[in-house]
Amino acid sequence: MQRRNFLKSSTLATAGVAIFGSKSLYSDDIFEQKREFVVPPLYEGKKIDGKRVFDLNLQKGEMEFFQGLKTQTIGINAPFLGPTLRASQNDTIKVNIKNSLGYDSTIHWHGFELPAKMDGGPHQIIRDSSIWSPEFAIKNRASMLWYHSHLLHQTGAQVYKGLAGLFIIDDIESQNLNLPHEYGIDDIPVVLQDRNYNNDGSFRYVSSQQESMMGIHGNYVLVNGVIAPTLRAKKKLTRFRILNGSNARYYLLGFSDNRKFQFIGSDGGLLEQPVALSQIKLAPAQRIDIVVDVSDGKDVVLKSYRGANSQNMGMMGMMMRNMGFDREFDLMKIKSKDAKNSTATVPQNLIKHPVWDPKDSVGVRNIVLQMRMGMGMMNRGNGDDNFFINGKSMDMNRIDAIAKKDTFEIWKIINKSPMSHPLHIHNTQFKTLAINGRKPNPSESGFMDTVSVDPMGIVYIMVPFRYYSDNKVPYMFHCHILEHEDGGMMGQLLVT
Ligand code: C2O
Ligand code: CU
Ligand code: CU
Repeated sequence: MQRRNFLKSSTLATAGVAIFGSKSLYSDDIFEQKREFVVPPLYEGKKIDGKRVFDLNLQKGEMEFFQGLKTQTIGINAPFLGPTLRASQNDTIKVNIKNSLGYDSTIHWHGFELPAKMDGGPHQIIRDSSIWSPEFAIKNRASMLWYHSHLLHQTGAQVYKGLAGLFIIDDIESQNLNLPHEYGIDDIPVVLQDRNYNNDGSFRYVSSQQESMMGIHGNYVLVNGVIAPTLRAKKKLTRFRILNGSNARYYLLGFSDNRKFQFIGSDGGLLEQPVALSQIKLAPAQRIDIVVDVSDGKDVVLKSYRGANSQNMGMMGMMMRNMGFDREFDLMKIKSKDAKNSTATVPQNLIKHPVWDPKDSVGVRNIVLQMRMGMGMMNRGNGDDNFFINGKSMDMNRIDAIAKKDTFEIWKIINKSPMSHPLHIHNTQFKTLAINGRKPNPSESGFMDTVSVDPMGIVYIMVPFRYYSDNKVPYMFHCHILEHEDGGMMGQLLVT
């Protein structure tokens, strides 16, 4: 197996610790490398004629993830990943995106409610050497959204190489809450992405049938582009906004000493009330907003526990264990002996959510997720697709769903496959109504743009379509395991 050969290679074995190849992560002590935690640069744009204007350049780069080894990457205004953009609700933003990659790309605004033409999906290609300047008014509430490449059949590869970044939205309600909110001080963004490497340090993307079926799962997890970094907490109350920016991997996040944290926000913004948790699952593309008390001054490790994926049966379960789905591993260390007192707090009540009555929806839309299993399947990206929604693979020339602006729909998402799929819908922040026949618990009741559906499971969500309509240009809805999206598990939604 390729993975085993890779682990035996002497170059990388000394350069770092392969997370899923080592028997015991703790005795290997991945943190011995003493890499510093990196905060992505904050970019608030500049106000020009009442608009908040950003200039982005999609560029090639080079990183040294392992000392002495170069990795060819791509990024936005940087060699790998992009700056954290920041704006307020009701700002009109304009983003000048120049493509200097040498090939086509797109930049999609994940989680935004925005005009279809500005969405940055497969229809808004930014040709090499050209500039695309989307412009729209921000409708979303305070939240952490993100942006990433969304080129048809190439999303997985381009995001893997580095084409992604964060976007923080502020609003007045959230600013009045006295939550930790100093970027990089007590409000820390965390992007989790797993990667595989070849012996020469280059990224290794999908190279087996198994990887194209299950989605790529890397042996190393980058935290803001750094393997197993250490953060020196500055405040005793520290907020982490965590994005699962991985192509396919799920995480079951928690701390090494099992300490509880306050879960305060999901994909689309703050919850009504904080929920105290010791573990939380994060599917690809999802975000969580948590506040952790580090006043005991002890070192603690943010890690991923066993069981991040739901129970999987038979051959699929065996493959998942082989690929290291079921391992426990460390992500980053937090040192807090120098943390200062904090004046921020986590209030009992955060924000009010509108009450959505399922009776106010216009109807139920069935979304059936399926995949073709077995030999000979490779994701060639040439229409030979193996992943389906309602029996069909993605087709740019076909509209799969038409919704009306200013309505709610109930989507019944039915997973008829033996692995979990995180379904994402553009241009909306929805709410979960039921999961496999039960009511969502408080930690599952936030605004979401991506919901995970268990193997053979069923999830009902209530989906609002607001603000914008377009009779021609569609939005996408798709599995956010990027190899599944690229392999056809995507459909087109028109909001008229
Ligand atoms: Cu995060 Cu359609 O994408
Ligand atoms: Cu999206
Ligand atoms: Cu999927």
